[in-house]
Amino acid sequence: MRVLSGIQPSGDALHIGNYFGALRQFRALQEEHEMLLFIADYHSMNSVRDGAARREFTRSVALDYLACGIDASRAMLFRQSDMPEVTELAWLLSSVTPMGLLERGHAYKDKVAQGQSADHGLFAYPVLQAADILLYHSDLVPVGQDQKQHIEMARDIAQRFNHVYGEELLVLPEPYIPEEVAVVPGTDGRKMSKSYGNTIAMFAAPSQVKKAVMGIVTDSTPVEDPKDPTGPLFQLWALFAEEGEREEMFARARKGGLGYGELKKDLFGRLSERFEPMRERRAALAGRPDEVEDVLADGVARARAIARPVLEACREAAGLGPA
Ligand code: TRP
Repeated sequence: MRVLSGIQPSGDALHIGNYFGALRQFRALQEEHEMLLFIADYHSMNSVRDGAARREFTRSVALDYLACGIDASRAMLFRQSDMPEVTELAWLLSSVTPMGLLERGHAYKDKVAQGQSADHGLFAYPVLQAADILLYHSDLVPVGQDQKQHIEMARDIAQRFNHVYGEELLVLPEPYIPEEVAVVPGTDGRKMSKSYGNTIAMFAAPSQVKKAVMGIVTDSTPVEDPKDPTGPLFQLWALFAEEGEREEMFARARKGGLGYGELKKDLFGRLSERFEPMRERRAALAGRPDEVEDVLADGVARARAIARPVLEACREAAGLGPA
């Protein structure tokens, strides 16, 4: 199967919610499938208005993904804007995309509801996203729940294009939203999210990670009393534990005698063990920008070999260019 996903370069530091929600899946998926991962810098033009910032954010995403174990000899990692073909396909798709479909788009509707004026780029965002997916005949698109509508729109648009110009032209993609990792709690117990300020950053210095861990909310049950192992501290800790360890620790909690301090210390140790090597790798790669550019250039070359025949077939069917 061919798996594709895109990541917006927003400048936000990755946190462990991103890791369990997306990165870890990407790493597993690249082992079994042909995987395309691109940095959606065209999409970011709707929110980031500073060119230098965009370039920096884009570089940063490439480092994040390579540091986390995206294997560039398997997966194709590239910048969206290194494939301008995607904007051509977006135009072809635009001509079969009903206004009504886009008027139902969440991002656009939210902006209008807040009384802000939306640009055409924001309105047409789902069409570009459809082109991202359809250009490579992608089968599976791993995304968060918030992107489900966009994948459905891509299917709808593909179906319309096929209906007009030829049934075999575009492949209808499926969203892939793993259930069990849907929610990683933040330090305050709500869903971990940058907008709540409750994250544990993946690449922060150990002292900052420690501070975040110490700040995880707990109740004031004394050490010796039984504890209900369902709070955010237990949930976060459990993400890093094996089944057997989990049962043992939860049993200790219910029995009494387990302190929150001990559990926090243990969680910090596990966080360091998992993320310190990635942090070091990221720092090393940051010092070798040419190597990162080579990876992106190789990624886009391999992606282009897939994209070109798909786009050519669409152009041909639509009567564009010479016969
Ligand atoms: N819209 C996605 C997001 O904000 C990013 C994205 C752009 C994407 N193109 C894509 C995701 C294609 C999956 C497939 O997260």
